[in-house]
Amino acid sequence: MSQQYESILAVLKKHQQEHILAGYANLEPQQQEKLLGELAQLDFESLDDLISQYVRQRPMTDIPTDLAPAPYYPLTTRSDDWPDSAEQPDYYHRLGSDAVRQGKLAAFTVAGGQGTRLGWNGPKGTYPATVVTGKPLFQCFAEQILAAQEKYDVHIPWYIMTSPLNDATTQAFFIDNNYFGLSRNDVFMFPQGILPSFDAATGRLLLAEADTLAVNPNGHGGSIQALRESGAVEDMIARGIEHISYFQIDNPLVNVIDPLFLGLHLAAPDSSAEMSSKMVPKTDPEEKVGVFCQSAGKTMVIEYSDLPDQYMHQRDEQEKLLFLAGSIAIHLISVSFVEKLTADSKHFALPYHRADKKVPHVDPQTGDRIEPKEPNGVKLEAFVFDAIPLAESSIVMETSRESEFAPIKNAQGTDSPATSHQLQSDRAGTWLESVGISIPRDSDGHVDALLEISPLTALHAEDLDALDDLPSAIKVGEELAI
Ligand code: UTP
Repeated sequence: MSQQYESILAVLKKHQQEHILAGYANLEPQQQEKLLGELAQLDFESLDDLISQYVRQRPMTDIPTDLAPAPYYPLTTRSDDWPDSAEQPDYYHRLGSDAVRQGKLAAFTVAGGQGTRLGWNGPKGTYPATVVTGKPLFQCFAEQILAAQEKYDVHIPWYIMTSPLNDATTQAFFIDNNYFGLSRNDVFMFPQGILPSFDAATGRLLLAEADTLAVNPNGHGGSIQALRESGAVEDMIARGIEHISYFQIDNPLVNVIDPLFLGLHLAAPDSSAEMSSKMVPKTDPEEKVGVFCQSAGKTMVIEYSDLPDQYMHQRDEQEKLLFLAGSIAIHLISVSFVEKLTADSKHFALPYHRADKKVPHVDPQTGDRIEPKEPNGVKLEAFVFDAIPLAESSIVMETSRESEFAPIKNAQGTDSPATSHQLQSDRAGTWLESVGISIPRDSDGHVDALLEISPLTALHAEDLDALDDLPSAIKVGEELAI
């Protein structure tokens, strides 16, 4: 056996992971080299810490005793409810528009997830998401960026975080689609970090293939470090970018360039302009979304599974949920905040969260493939919202679900393509109604037609005013893509 094999085996033995080489002798030389190469990259000291902290036990989240709901800026239709110290929405809108026009804002999509719930064969961004023409998610955002570039007469660079597991296919998809009309120089893709997946019962490493470790991307929280390590931050600074519009790959309705949100982030009296968030009111106490809270003056998201029952159901005098502000993973993050957090890049880490998942794997000894029926593995992921309390002072702004939230997470049921299509049609219907077009709706108020408005046609409802060839009414079940 080679010297490399012997030295890696010694390390594995020290950390009780030598099982992973049990079938080494049966592998082809190239496979042996590949497996040793992957093992050589692991830092077993830190893996031991992770295993004892997160795999051998289920870490509990400490809930601060002074936990309170985070304040938020309500929808502009209720701007009378804004704090007295704040300016009016128009002021922030103008400020944000100016910053976009001056080229200070970049778009940033986190697209490194595995999308296992949707079960689509390929990166989630390639999923055909729109109602009539089936445009892929990546195209939904590309068109928004194209339209905003035109509107503000500026280049808006787009940073996309992939993972080592989907980077090549994502790159190929953009090349095949000619970057959807964007300049290739304005699209910057980089892979995030990965972590091994662990056997839940033993904390042992798993093999995805006879010569390949089972790994998973290290969570959307990995984006903070990846922005720095990939050179994206340097690229942003060179371009004069100061703020990053962060959003997930799964929400085709997200308002990528939102001047009001940017203005508030930049200048609200209680914002340190480091990291800001959007929220939607929870539909019911048990909705599975994280909730914006505050403790000791810091804003934070508490996961739904960690929010104690008494808080989850607590209501005010008007019977409104007290812990109402649901997180929809839309943030503004300043480049200087990412620099500050990652100044000592090697030692910066957000906490990990444990997810118990089915991890198909290969038995190292026998080479048998195992397809678990129940969760057998632990994946560790960092969450980007854990960076919020690291900001000096962080604001939350309300947005409406109808206008900005139509996630595609599951193949069926809630947050599926079907629910997203309905929400996309609903929003398009509302926009068309605002310019006097009659739209059919069912008894629940949902649009009863298939409607799609490209961002290239209208970024906002007002943009439809300029169109003169729209029909005066849409019939039940009719398809319209403009
Ligand atoms: P999800 O929590 O929906 O996870 O990610 P997922 O991996 O995409 O899907 P499932 O759970 O396997 O079904 C929310 C967002 O964060 C990104 C995803 O791409 C999505 O935009 N993400 C998630 C990353 O970029 N990296 C990760 O490691 C995890």
